[in-house]
Amino acid sequence: EKGGYEHFMLKEIEEQPTAVRDTLRGRFTATGEIALDEVRLSDQDLRDTDKVFIVACGTSYHAGLVAKYAIEHWTRLPCEVELASEFRYRDPVLDRSTLVIVISQSGETMDTIMALRHAKEQKARVLAISNTVGSTIPRESDAVLYTRAGLEVAVASTKAFLTQLVACYLVGLHLAQIRGVKYADEVAAILDELAAMPEKIQTVLAAMDPVRELARSLAGVQPVLFIGRHVGYPVALEGALKLKELAYLHAEGFAAGELKHGPISLIEDGTPVVVIVPSPRGRGLLHDKVVSNIQEVKARGAKVIAVAEDGDTAVVPHADEVVYVPVVPTLLAPLLTAVPLQVFACEVAGALGLEIDQPRNLAKSVTVE
Ligand code: M6R
Repeated sequence: EKGGYEHFMLKEIEEQPTAVRDTLRGRFTATGEIALDEVRLSDQDLRDTDKVFIVACGTSYHAGLVAKYAIEHWTRLPCEVELASEFRYRDPVLDRSTLVIVISQSGETMDTIMALRHAKEQKARVLAISNTVGSTIPRESDAVLYTRAGLEVAVASTKAFLTQLVACYLVGLHLAQIRGVKYADEVAAILDELAAMPEKIQTVLAAMDPVRELARSLAGVQPVLFIGRHVGYPVALEGALKLKELAYLHAEGFAAGELKHGPISLIEDGTPVVVIVPSPRGRGLLHDKVVSNIQEVKARGAKVIAVAEDGDTAVVPHADEVVYVPVVPTLLAPLLTAVPLQVFACEVAGALGLEIDQPRNLAKSVTVE
């Protein structure tokens, strides 16, 4: 069933264009209206939403962190993202106009189930994003959008993550439409860009040999730091989580702007730093700030691996290696920039002779709190 691949994880990484295409299929009408799969609440309920929480664990939490940027931008609703295991223990402010989006590949993660139940007790509306039809989380939610990643066997989540991102974008656009779209043109353009995404992911996958080579040359070196800004920050967290769980190495993700507030002291001669570089076309001069961050770590001896947009030559003089990904709108970039980090972690673990599909101490579905 590994279809000629040595590990399920490799197969699942390669399946990502298909998984994303499947998750998009039939999800919007010719006029661009997005529909959820199961809806046990009215459009009015969604229209009355005045605050969004996203609650999840692990990789699903990272998808939620990306979603926050998109949802706040498109809907102008405040959106907070929280680890499910923390959520209900701090008495969050919830009522019937709060929308809680729970994200869970398995639909059976106990921390997330308990957070969902807490939200429902407080009368919040719950929308689930899950890969498992009929599992506990979608069953107990008021609305559901299923990812269609297919069965994910490897413990380390890859294709589920990319499809969660797609589902989050669709939910964000759906909310924006229901509430009266302020960015009508932008929504149409984003739908077109999403439709083009499977091909672009394929382009990234086809160019992974240098990443594999790099991973083999760095296998065992630690710590490995991952830095990014804006949506690149959650991608950095996800890259670090992949490396921790698969290769048992100390890896940390940071917001690039935080470096000078502490983490930069970790850098020694040869410390690998993976940098998710924002698009030079993006707003807020973030690109230039991250290029400065690259120079700062470089000056302290870091080995810099940049993941940058095609045509971004500004990083070349400062980075040791540059991995290019196709040009896409900033909010959608995680669908591409996460892929080299998955491949990197998988290859490091392989080079170290570790069990890729079943890392030690981990289970695919965590059904205890
Ligand atoms: O099934 P879920 O999406 O609720 O699982 C959440 C986490 O346990 C999961 O994403 C975990 O972090 C993965 N092993 C990461 O690769």
